[in-house]
Amino acid sequence: MTKAIYKYWKKLKSKQIRKRVFEALEQNVDFQDNDLIGVPASHLDPKVFYNDSPILKDAPFLSSLVKNPNHIGCHTLGNSEPFFQGTQEIERELINICAVDILGAEPESCDGYVASGGTEANIQAIWIYRNFFRREMGAKLEEIAILTSSDAHYSMFKASDILHLDVEQVMIDEETRAVSREAIDQSIENLRKKGKKYVIVVVNMMTTMFGSVDDPDIYAEALNNAGFPFKMHADGAYGGFLHPFMCENNKLGFDNPDISSVTLDAHKLVQAPYGTGIFLARKGLMKYVLNEQAQYVKGLDATLSGSRSGANAIAVWMILTTYGPHGWYEKNQMLMMRTNWLCDQLDEMGMEYYRNPHSNIVTLKAKDYLYPLVGRFGLVPDSHGNTANWYKIVVMEHVTLDKLALFLEELREELVVKNT
Ligand SMILES: Cc1ncc(COP(=O)(O)O)c(C=O)c1O
Repeated sequence: MTKAIYKYWKKLKSKQIRKRVFEALEQNVDFQDNDLIGVPASHLDPKVFYNDSPILKDAPFLSSLVKNPNHIGCHTLGNSEPFFQGTQEIERELINICAVDILGAEPESCDGYVASGGTEANIQAIWIYRNFFRREMGAKLEEIAILTSSDAHYSMFKASDILHLDVEQVMIDEETRAVSREAIDQSIENLRKKGKKYVIVVVNMMTTMFGSVDDPDIYAEALNNAGFPFKMHADGAYGGFLHPFMCENNKLGFDNPDISSVTLDAHKLVQAPYGTGIFLARKGLMKYVLNEQAQYVKGLDATLSGSRSGANAIAVWMILTTYGPHGWYEKNQMLMMRTNWLCDQLDEMGMEYYRNPHSNIVTLKAKDYLYPLVGRFGLVPDSHGNTANWYKIVVMEHVTLDKLALFLEELREELVVKNT
């Protein structure tokens, strides 16, 4: 759904975007024209990156890259490095757009930052909750576990390894890709047997392979029923910029009190440069990872990243303000239209596949007649190492009806060969 009113997210003309970014860069420190000698940062190397090229005059993103602001720290929390205050303000605006206008948070109720990607944002969330349970509830490390579905992203296992937490995977139904209450209850029983007392739940807003979406309510009900304290994070790395627009009843935003944090990735569907994962959390949570040792950083540091490029936040802000919320909805509708069209054709052909109705991922059951098309069309398998059971098509901006039609034509030919 697209709403009638958006608080922070406005469509801007390219002239307005340029003005805003250049003004923000002006408010940052200019390494060339002032006498500062203590800042351990600088613009990009001018021998290589030509910082006086006339092209830069009309190119706000490239100018941001060349000026190289360091957005170290989290800028929704209070004090931040004064040297980059102009562009930090753009990042704050971006966080508000995502938390309030996309995910239904109350204004000023969330913190957040632009992380290196979905992996970092997921680990940041789990790190926060691990420390929350230890500090607030006296939990021992071995009493805390990550609970997530067997379709969740492998970053769960990175988090598990780094943070020394066990992962309990809830088995999904092979056909519906959904977790049932019984499966969650079984996992809770497994946790209890292993001596776990505190649970970090990670629910999916579109899984990597299937685009399937978890129901947070059944996790909450099951855990409440079993008397387990829990914190819930939504992994919207893939679906966060699509699903809330397409699903009228999105349960994975901040209007659901059980959701405490969300990952979004702008370097996937939003087509932003890599390094634009977005971590969002309700206020009051970042303190659990605030690093008091980061004394040389004004405002300290509560992020996993440390130094990070301010140009990345600017890139995402520029994309979202170029479209505006309604333009973004229309863009998503186009992806949905193409995906619906593809599915109609597959239905006519009697193909077996999985698709969540609010997603642009179509995952085909692996069949011998599909194999000749895998390499040619870059279909991605669920496993490169073992026998693939599924291959996915992801209907991105460049995946046009023409390309889908070509794929279907060749698929039909393969089916004819198989049946003769
Ligand atoms: C659902 C989900 N979560 C997390 C990630 C990790 O994102 P990144 O590769 O940006 O670290 C991905 C990547 O595909 C994903 O699909």
